[in-house]
Order: sequence, then C-alpha cells, then structure tokens
Amino acid sequence: MTDHPLEGRRAVVTGGASGIGLACARALAVRGADVTVADIDREATARAADAIDGHTWVVDLADTEALESVVLDTDILVNNAGIQRVAAITELAPDDFRLIQRLMVEAPFLLVRAALPCMYERGWGRIVNLSSVHGLRASAYKVAYVAAKHGLEGLSKVTALEGGPYGVTSNCVNPAYVRTPLVEKQIGDQARAHGIPEEEVVEKVMLTETAVKRLIEPEQVASLVAWLCSEDAGMVSGASYTMDGGWTAR
Ligand SMILES: NC(=O)c1ccc[n+]([C@@H]2O[C@H](COP(=O)([O-])OP(=O)(O)OC[C@H]3O[C@@H](n4cnc5c(N)ncnc54)[C@H](O)[C@@H]3O)[C@@H](O)[C@H]2O)c1
Repeated sequence: MTDHPLEGRRAVVTGGASGIGLACARALAVRGADVTVADIDREATARAADAIDGHTWVVDLADTEALESVVLDTDILVNNAGIQRVAAITELAPDDFRLIQRLMVEAPFLLVRAALPCMYERGWGRIVNLSSVHGLRASAYKVAYVAAKHGLEGLSKVTALEGGPYGVTSNCVNPAYVRTPLVEKQIGDQARAHGIPEEEVVEKVMLTETAVKRLIEPEQVASLVAWLCSEDAGMVSGASYTMDGGWTAR
C-alpha cells in the first residue's frame, strides 16, 4: 500500500469542524485526499481546514431548501453532521424533531443526490454515513435521533443499490458513545431525564449496554471511515459497521 492511498481523491466531510468529523477530515487528508470541511461553525471550520491544508464550506445543513440546487463534485462524501436532543416524547418540541430530521436525514439525501452524478460519470465514489448504534437499536428519550438514524440507514442502503453499477459504495458506521463535544453536552440532559447525578451518566447510561466499558475515541471511528473509502473496501456496500464495544451483540 502507498503512504497516500487517497491521493487524487476529493472528499467532503460534513460536521468536519469537531469531534468525529474533524477526526475523519484528518484521517482522509493524511491518506492524501483533498478535503473540504463543511460545517456551520465558521471559525472552527477555518481552523480545521487550515490544519489539514483543506478547504472550507461554511453551510447550515439544516437549511435544506438551499441544498436542492447544490452540485457536489467530489469522490468521497462523509455525511457526519449531527446534533442531539434528550427528552421524553411528550416533552420534545415538534420543531426540534423536525430540525433533527432535516439535518440528519434530509440533508444527507440532498448531498448524496448532489454528489452522485459526478461519481457516476467517473465510475467511482465512496459515501459514508455516520449513523450510530441508535441506527440499529433504540434508547428512551432520543426519539428524534433514533428516528433520524434509522432513516439514514435506509438512505444508505438504497444508495448502495443504485450506486453499485457505477462503482459507488455507500455504508453506515455505527458507533456507541464517542468522546466528543456532542456527548459532553448531553450529560446534563441525560442526568435530568434519568433522574440521576451527572457524575453517574457515563457509567449508568452510556456504558451500561457495552461489554467494553469505555468511550470510543474519534480517531478509532475515523480509521474505519477511511478504510471504507479505500480501494480495499470496494466490495463493501450497503453495510452497517458497528463499533460499539459489543452493545449490539445482545
Ligand atoms: N459522539 C457520539 O457518541 C456519537 C455516537 C454515534 C454517532 N455519532 C454521530 O457522529 C456524528 C458526529 O458527532 P460528534 O459527536 O462528532 O458531534 P460534534 O458535536 O462534536 O460535531 C458535530 C459537528 O456538526 C456541526 N453541525 C451541527 N449542526 C450543523 C448544521 N446545521 N450545519 C452544518 N454543520 C452542523 C457542528 O458545528 C459540529 O462541528 C453525528 O452524526 C452523531 O450523531 C456520534
């Protein structure tokens, strides 16, 4: 294998300014890809792109109408941007439910739709969708997120079926809890929803289902994403790769 197996490939990573997306942007750039960081956070996007000698696309991906006319000339698309809301169904604001579906199902659909024509033309493409263990299993108090990730699984599989004849693969990556700002931000909400102190959230909520009792590191997820973008993974499509410390073995 060469040191830069993705040399000559262009990649777009949504939510690439933080957490898993940032680790993916780095992992793809290290392997030689020319990476565009697509994120709503202007300053963090500039920092991330600067660090990998990449490009910026400052964009609110929840503004899905604006995405309808986008043309995305890229070889690799990592649909990663996401947010979380922790609340019982009876407490969740309908607008929060809709926002999560727009950002985490509708935007990935529109970006796939925008990227496929150029991938088809070149006969090569890699789409990786950052799903979650919650794309395969449910947890209480996460109705919008669980619904969105299950929807993303469907989008990924249909993309795999349609893209296959054109050399385009589409896969999901399904981590359990990863050490990122998204997880740190939900500790207070989880404590309130479950009626336990914040210090107990990681052990009693986040790690109860896993056999390996620790948080995943963003770089571990990024390494799997980079492999899915490689030539070696050319026959892997329509799959959902768990990295969940054994959660879904139950
Ligand atoms: N952290 C985990 O435990 C975990 C586990 C499984 C799956 N995931 C998934 O991984 C993905 C990344 O999560 P993370 O933990 O790295 O989160 P994070 O909060 O660290 O990063 C998310 C990024 O998305 C960007 N973003 C948010 N709203 C946006 C919008 N409207 N338009 C454009 N960009 C926007 C943010 O600015 C941020 O840079 C998400 O899809 C999440 O559901 C995370």
